[in-house]
Amino acid sequence: MSSDTIRRLHEAASAVRRNAYAPYSNFKVGAALLGADGKIYAAANVENAAYPQSQCAEASAVGMMVAAGCREITEVLVIAEAPGDGLVSPCGGCRQRLNEFAAPDVVVHMANEKGVVGQMTLGDLLPHSFGPKQLERENRGQAGDGDHYEQG
Ligand code: THU
Repeated sequence: MSSDTIRRLHEAASAVRRNAYAPYSNFKVGAALLGADGKIYAAANVENAAYPQSQCAEASAVGMMVAAGCREITEVLVIAEAPGDGLVSPCGGCRQRLNEFAAPDVVVHMANEKGVVGQMTLGDLLPHSFGPKQLERENRGQAGDGDHYEQG
């Protein structure tokens, strides 16, 4: 994690935030992910007239990273303009989306247009997370272990 990387993430997230489609909330968000491939994947929120179909910036960025063939996030920056201390952290659903591709020690920078206003690890944002590890085959009971339902 270098200050140059943070600057590049901020620049990328800020640039896509300008293109956010948020006519309903007027709350524009940009997210930039640093992939393990060294590339930055940045995207914005995309709202919908059917409100629940709206997509967060982080979800858009994860989709871009995966489509490009990258499967690992090493750093995250989220940018928005909020009142008060200006801290905007990823929503619960997006913490889960990030968790699919990021280790607990991955740093999530929270920023506004002026700069970074807070930093937390994904593990702090989503403690005791449920993730791919829980679904690994060896962690699951095999049929015949005695916990399956038998008819009759
Ligand atoms: N939003 C994001 O894009 N990311 C978050 O982590 C929080 C919320 C978007 C969703 C919606 O378009 C707008 O911000 C207001 O909730």
